[in-house]
Amino acid sequence: MSAISPMTPNAFAAPPIRQTGILIGDEFRPSVSGKTFETINPATEEVICEVAEGDVEDIDLAVHAARSAFETGPWSRMDARDRGRLLNKLADLAEQHLDELAALETLDNGKPINDSRAADLPLVIDCLRYYAGWADKIHGDTIPIRGDFFCYTRREPVGVCGQIIPWNFPLLMTAWKWGPALATGNTIVMKPAEQTPLTCLRLAELALEAGFPPGVINVVPGFGPTAGAALVQHPQVDKIAFTGEGTTAKIIMKNAADTLKRITFELGGKSPNVIFADADLDAAIAGAEFGLFFNQGQCCCAGSRLFVEESIHDEFVERVVSRASQRVLGNPFDTETQQGPQVDKAQFDKILHYIERGNAQGAKCLTGGQRYGQRGFFVQPTVFSGVTDEMDIAREEIFGPVMNILKFKDTNEVIQRANNTCYGLAAAVWTKDIQKAHKVAASVRAGTVWVNCYDVFDAAAPFGGFKMSGIGRELGEAGLANYTELKTVTVRLG
Ligand code: NAI
Ligand code: MG
Repeated sequence: MSAISPMTPNAFAAPPIRQTGILIGDEFRPSVSGKTFETINPATEEVICEVAEGDVEDIDLAVHAARSAFETGPWSRMDARDRGRLLNKLADLAEQHLDELAALETLDNGKPINDSRAADLPLVIDCLRYYAGWADKIHGDTIPIRGDFFCYTRREPVGVCGQIIPWNFPLLMTAWKWGPALATGNTIVMKPAEQTPLTCLRLAELALEAGFPPGVINVVPGFGPTAGAALVQHPQVDKIAFTGEGTTAKIIMKNAADTLKRITFELGGKSPNVIFADADLDAAIAGAEFGLFFNQGQCCCAGSRLFVEESIHDEFVERVVSRASQRVLGNPFDTETQQGPQVDKAQFDKILHYIERGNAQGAKCLTGGQRYGQRGFFVQPTVFSGVTDEMDIAREEIFGPVMNILKFKDTNEVIQRANNTCYGLAAAVWTKDIQKAHKVAASVRAGTVWVNCYDVFDAAAPFGGFKMSGIGRELGEAGLANYTELKTVTVRLG
């Protein structure tokens, strides 16, 4: 057997690339302009393949396909229970193709294959099944209004939903967006992130195989300011669901204003992870490591402000640094690998810039701080101590493997500091004291609070942000509300 290059997926792992076109109706096709763009393997910096580059005209075709599927296609007449069956079928197909989809995700995004297989794919499948179960359980109320009337409500689909997603969990974000939209009878035009279009296209192909009618799911790969903006501005699109950066969300909100679209946002964070001295220290240290370094630090809910109580601070720092410096970096297709590359050069540069800022502003870099290796967008797991609230690394989203440790003295102080941010996505607290745990959980202005755990996600539990971390909630029953309009029907009886 020939030697396998350390950064190349081995023959077993190399997934087939089946779809690189724009999905409109039931056809994968080139872009109207004929343009393509490269998608890169971030572990090797090599081109994986060319993907059709959608723009205004492709978005227009996709929106018309979605519109006619919504207004006149079989989808618009389908029983709710059959929509659920289709979603279950898609979940089954995703499960049957778990190895292939996980490998494709790892190739395009760089995340370790263990994570793709054990985290992303199971969550994708679970999310589709969860929303499949909702399809025939969405109903209105009867309302006792004054007079001789029969008044009831119906929950109807919003219509054509434009969905714009990022690159950190490409397939999972696809499932979070498709599940509730399809369960409630909407049609979709999705724009995947330009860094990671491949798994979304493959899942769309599986959706056609499952039997979703043409036009229900359309996928237009391309860039934000072109394809993304065209989707946001299209008058025939009823709603935009976006996950990504806050500055992009502000542009989207302005661009959506002319057509007064419904919008839901899931944005960034600077989530506090608070470790009290009375916590189970082993668990807290493991949780701090996982809560920050998971997915190369590319999580909107990363525990990127780690508040540690003064009396355990030094021991905690020493132990967390030791763990961080032992993390295994390398070929994401190697099952020993815990940390792969960052998704692209822009993210890699941004992270190294923040490390520079941390050093320049007086934080102490205890491990890491540099690029790892010569090839691929790898960044060493980095830990800063002596971080203060006003430093850039404590205020801005780094989205990389950079842990920032801040010291605190008491509960009220740490609550106040935890809330001293424009974000409000997630928070965690580690303590054995149940009163303290609940006090912090109630006081932190964040959409999710984890107590003695981190990054526990479930399709049934709502997720989303307070403040500048978002608008609306995804997952759970709450996630359905984004995709229905409430109609009141009043019937005169006498
Ligand atoms: P981004 O917000 O620019 O991209 C996310 C998606 O929005 C992509 O599909 C992109 O093509 C699209 N987009 C960009 N500009 C658009 C526009 N004008 N109209 C419509 N769609 C548009 O995020 P980016 O540049 O990939 O990452 C930058 C930073 O954002 C990261 O360093 C991180 O801090 C944050 N981020 C947060 C995420 C989260 O889950 N909260 C996910 C990804 C990034
Ligand atoms: Mg961008």
